[in-house]
Amino acid sequence: MRARARVDLIGRSAEIVALQEEIERVARSDAKVLITGESGVGKEIVARSIHTLSPRAAMPFAPVNCAGLPETLLESELFGHVKGSFTGAYRDKPGKLETAHTGTIFLDEVGEMTLRMQGLLLRFLETGELQKVGADGGSRHVDVRVVAATNRNLHELIAQGQFRDDLYYRLNVIHIIVPPLRDRREDIPELIAHFLGRYIAANRSSITAVSPSAMKALSAHSWPGNVRELENVIERLVVNAKGTQIEFDDLSPDVKAQDTISFKPRRERRRTVADDLYKRLTDDRESFWTAVYPLFMEREITRGNVRDVVKKGLEEARGNYKIVARLFNMESRDYKRFLNFLRKHDCQIPFKEYR
Ligand SMILES: Nc1ncnc2c1ncn2[C@@H]1O[C@H](COP(=O)(O)OP(=O)(O)OP(=O)(O)O)[C@@H](O)[C@H]1O
Ligand SMILES: [Mg+2]
Repeated sequence: MRARARVDLIGRSAEIVALQEEIERVARSDAKVLITGESGVGKEIVARSIHTLSPRAAMPFAPVNCAGLPETLLESELFGHVKGSFTGAYRDKPGKLETAHTGTIFLDEVGEMTLRMQGLLLRFLETGELQKVGADGGSRHVDVRVVAATNRNLHELIAQGQFRDDLYYRLNVIHIIVPPLRDRREDIPELIAHFLGRYIAANRSSITAVSPSAMKALSAHSWPGNVRELENVIERLVVNAKGTQIEFDDLSPDVKAQDTISFKPRRERRRTVADDLYKRLTDDRESFWTAVYPLFMEREITRGNVRDVVKKGLEEARGNYKIVARLFNMESRDYKRFLNFLRKHDCQIPFKEYR
């Protein structure tokens, strides 16, 4: 049997055929792979296919969602920990890197890692040595193939100081880009048939067909959530269907809407530079002086970005600059310096608008 049969990607568009060939080629090597593409395009399927087509197929495939866990838990998830190293660490636990030994580790959403975790990962990639949380001395060498994925723009994150460029170069030996569904609409009917088959069986539904007008609308929709959105829509249609055929009228307004016939991609609201900076200040508890100030002074971010961050702070603090300063993790004696900075660079926004 040809290897291609084992790549689980549905679709026969030129993009998917090229992607399948690339996966087969890449699977034969042992190089690190970085998979990028919008949310829901199938990055995880690509990662699994690389593993199952590789010489490591009989060994473990260990996925780790780098976005789903707080930093300390992610650290122990990856590197393992020894008993008693933190509250709740009741016994020694191997990390995913260790359990994936001789197999493949899949670092999903790698763009969400904190800078400290990025540093730890980089050290591991450079040495192959594993150091458990709470272990003093004694490291173990592990042999894993590394496949990483992200829907973030890593170049942007690097420019913002949120992703290490040295780690980027380590991970990005081979770069696989998974195209959005709206750029390969020929695949839509086959995907619909595939998901219909799955959900008709699962729901013992009496659906037997999709009406031509419904099919036309589904094929013309821009699918900002890509294949995952299409899958969810099909499941919902099967569950809610009254007759034996899916009709145009069964579709949701956004799928029916005329403007989706245009081939302009509809963009999801992307996280802005200001959103990311604000998150660093409030969630990661970085100080304004380290997270925002240097980037602005080095012209990595614009005055508009700084103003947007300040606006967000003012909204949260209901117009009180003192509270904004605290929110941005500044010492109280830095309050004047903060205001001076904003004034000097024309980033001060009238607080009354937020009262
Ligand atoms: N070409 C395809 N053929 C069949 N199923 C697909 C295809 N592409 C995606 N899917 C299905 O769509 C869903 C989303 O795919 P997947 O989880 O791999 O996306 P992703 O790119 O990892 O998304 P995210 O960035 O949101 O994690 C899954 O249920 C997957 O099985
Ligand atoms: Mg994914």
